[in-house]
Amino acid sequence: MLNVYLVIVGALAATQVAGFPGGAPRSACASMAPIHMLFGAQEDAVPFTLTISSTQANSVSPITVTLQSTGEADFRGYMIQARSGTNTTGIGSFSAEGSQGKTMDCPGGTANAVTHSSRMRRKNETFLWTPPADFKGQVTMKATVVVGFRTFYTDLISAPITIV
Ligand SMILES: *[C@@H]1O[C@H](CO)[C@@H](O)[C@H](O)[C@H]1NC(C)=O
Ligand SMILES: *[C@@H]1O[C@H](CO)[C@@H](O)[C@H](O)[C@H]1NC(C)=O
Repeated sequence: MLNVYLVIVGALAATQVAGFPGGAPRSACASMAPIHMLFGAQEDAVPFTLTISSTQANSVSPITVTLQSTGEADFRGYMIQARSGTNTTGIGSFSAEGSQGKTMDCPGGTANAVTHSSRMRRKNETFLWTPPADFKGQVTMKATVVVGFRTFYTDLISAPITIV
């Protein structure tokens, strides 16, 4: 009985990056976890990279952020945020123009996350990211990438970006 209860609570608590064809819901903002979290993330080498166009940025010189397959793997779902330390608030704002994705407003910001907007398989996606004017310090891009129901990667991170 207790086990059943724990599984149900776990399932409800697990949030949904890829469970929704139209993108992750707002409930996934803090955890960035996919709905199938109960299975555990993949532990083998991550077949994707999250790269940035510059290791320095400020509110008048945005950078590009690219999620890219390193080989044959394609992804169907994702969520990307800029994070500082262990703070779960997404920093700055993205533009999804020219991508297959869309921005989302997570608590504490506007367009401070990007997610997929369909289940189309793809190998790369590029976004523009602008730091806020009132933040100085270091952030890293953080992504959850979903390949399929049991295949997903959490905590894919970029090189650090210094906001000056
Ligand atoms: C997390 O970041 C947000 C936005 O920068 C800030 O308002 C908040 O105070 C931070 N929280 C902690 C615990 O540092
Ligand atoms: C990006 O993805 C598109 C479509 O999947 C593909 O045509 C293109 O070659 C990819 N670019 C790179 C740099 O992998």
